[in-house]
Amino acid sequence: MNREQISRIAHAEHPIKAPLDDDSVRRLLDRALPRGDERVLDLGCGGGEWLLRALDSRPRVHAEGVDVSEDALAQAREGAERLGLQDRLVLHQREAAEFSSPQPFDLVLSVAATHAFGGLLPTLAAARKHLAPGGRVLIGDGFWEREPSPAAVEMLGDFADLATTVDRVVAEGWIPVDGHVSTRQELDAYEWACWGTLASWALDHPADPDSAQVRETAHTRYSEWLHAYRESWGFVTLVLRRTS
Ligand SMILES: C[S@@+](CC[C@H](N)C(=O)[O-])C[C@H]1O[C@@H](n2cnc3c(N)ncnc32)[C@H](O)[C@@H]1O
Repeated sequence: MNREQISRIAHAEHPIKAPLDDDSVRRLLDRALPRGDERVLDLGCGGGEWLLRALDSRPRVHAEGVDVSEDALAQAREGAERLGLQDRLVLHQREAAEFSSPQPFDLVLSVAATHAFGGLLPTLAAARKHLAPGGRVLIGDGFWEREPSPAAVEMLGDFADLATTVDRVVAEGWIPVDGHVSTRQELDAYEWACWGTLASWALDHPADPDSAQVRETAHTRYSEWLHAYRESWGFVTLVLRRTS
């Protein structure tokens, strides 16, 4: 089973591929889409959950999603068809950094996908190029709540603490107009949902040739989370506007 298939199973119970619950996602979208007729771009959209939720509750919003994963985009397409949103959603299978559009967007989203650009600030620089005047960015990325172990840094990459993270964003000319720091409950619920769902799938499919691999993956991920980064890693999602 490849990485994408494993990711699809792992996120079956938590389709937002980041540690935010449904209320947090709803509240952030409300802040990011004040008019209800915006053009929205999601860089690293995955299964398109943020876009589907934005479109489903706002009949005048139009959206485009970019992702490299064929499997994730197929999920986004299925979701749009299921909800009758396909006429307002365009999906692009492409490197996010290579995406270009003749028209700017009122909201650029990128949640848990900053690795596509090499970090938070390069992602914001890319988002800015797509942004219409007066537009907003909704961006989610990790930060260190506590001093990380070398194993945590090796596994997740190099982040800053929350204050430094926001300072760096502000220094680039962005103004946070809202934000959400994932709670302990959201962080834990995300990990339990992903790795518990994988473990359950392995137990429910004992005869599947991939069962042992999936069970081993679930075990490894639990272990990495609990031993290496649960105590140190946090996640922040910001709604940003430009100073000018
Ligand atoms: C953790 S998921 C987040 C998905 C979505 N933003 C969400 O919150 O549900 C990260 C996504 O980024 C995509 N991705 C990674 N590198 C990328 C790249 N270079 N260009 C476009 N998408 C990329 C992955 O395929 C994956 O779907």
